[in-house]
Amino acid sequence: MSRQLLATKSIAELHEQEASGNQLRRALTATQLTLLGIGGIIGTGIFVLTGVAAANNAGPALPLSFIVAGIGCTFAGLCYAEFAAMIPVSGSAYSYSYATLGEGVAWFIGWNLVLEYLFAVATVSVGWSGYAISLLEQLHIHIPAALANAPIDQGADALHLRLTGAIINLPAILIVAVIATICYIGIKQSAVFNSVIVTIKVTVIVLFILFGVSYINSANWHPFVPPNTGSWGVYGVSGILAASGVIFFAYIGFDAISTAAQESKNPQRDMPIGILASLIICTVLYVIVSAVLTGMVSYTELNVAAPVALALDKYPGLHWLGIPVKLGAVAGMTSVMLVMTIAQARIFFAMARDGLLPQFFGRVHPRFRTPSTGTLVTGVSAALIGGLFPVGLLGHLVSIGTLAAFVTVCLGVLVLRRTRPDLPRPFRLMMVSLGLATWVRLAVWSVIGLLVYVGYGYRHSKLRPSAAGSVSVGAATTR
Ligand code: ALA
Repeated sequence: MSRQLLATKSIAELHEQEASGNQLRRALTATQLTLLGIGGIIGTGIFVLTGVAAANNAGPALPLSFIVAGIGCTFAGLCYAEFAAMIPVSGSAYSYSYATLGEGVAWFIGWNLVLEYLFAVATVSVGWSGYAISLLEQLHIHIPAALANAPIDQGADALHLRLTGAIINLPAILIVAVIATICYIGIKQSAVFNSVIVTIKVTVIVLFILFGVSYINSANWHPFVPPNTGSWGVYGVSGILAASGVIFFAYIGFDAISTAAQESKNPQRDMPIGILASLIICTVLYVIVSAVLTGMVSYTELNVAAPVALALDKYPGLHWLGIPVKLGAVAGMTSVMLVMTIAQARIFFAMARDGLLPQFFGRVHPRFRTPSTGTLVTGVSAALIGGLFPVGLLGHLVSIGTLAAFVTVCLGVLVLRRTRPDLPRPFRLMMVSLGLATWVRLAVWSVIGLLVYVGYGYRHSKLRPSAAGSVSVGAATTR
């Protein structure tokens, strides 16, 4: 058993596999990959979580938290870029760990990527629903609360759940259905849709910066690092670190580009450009937005779900920007869901191709040339989860799944290049700050994954010696 768990696919084998049977359409350029990255990154994080992180953890030092998280993500981004250029196949971190750390770790990572991408679609659909409902209210269209909220929420303590009395979050379900349909129809159509949406959301953010800057009251920045209250993570240096764990969610998405390697025209050159360019652009925007936001409003007032809208409401001269910002937030979240759905479907595709999931998950549509059943499974599951659970509970799961993938990708780089011992640390620190309940849920998720692997993946793996003759992967070998 340990032999199979440690079995790796060589990079040459992965290249050959990709060259011999790429059924997906090569349509994406470096610019489209960068836009996909920005599409996947800017969303709920900046429009929703910034306020809470400033109010509860970092205070006006929030831009420092964005820098800390940005540095951490840059390490991961460099590792992803290196791998994406070396192994330009669909599975992202899953494929990278298959090439370096063996099938057991690859399964664990593939399973955690579900936690990242599929749960991100669900999480963001809930954030989207909140903003869309408030926009509709402004247009005097009222959605009953029972159809716009999660029926399940966190209980009295973090490890228990309770019923809220609501029936279902209907807008969350509807938006996931629309997004999954676009992803099902084609990668080109998805990229065009994404480019339009990214233009809208970046314009709105730049408008917020340009107009908000003249409403900054520098008194709001003092003290820049409020003194720690005595509890870890509540202001002070530990508050900056805790906030970086919370707003880390805002960066998730750059890694999703790497799942589209098989649909990139020139992956060796364009994947690193797409990953790093989108990360840098978003880091700069985040640091500036958080500085302007905490300058416009005292951090003590920012513990709200729509902090950017709150800052605009505070100043009559900026009221006109309220609706465009809400539209920008809705647009931003839409593209995040789109990119995450694309990514999740390709992870299913790669795992099914290797035999770790049933072939059903890897089916490619004959006309649209998209992983259609993976897209369908992603859409249906994310719609159900988004319809049933609240944003807070889901968001932490996404963060911990992503951080687990980042740590593993960094370790993978260490395996290939033993000279970079500093890479994994930033993610470990951020993982610690996510709390016991999230860790318990990660453990439960991992146990479920282990059961699925033992029950299916282990026996059907294309690297299993007895299955080697029947595979389309062709050159895969067990070492
Ligand atoms: N980074 C994405 C967002 O903030 C997941 O919505």
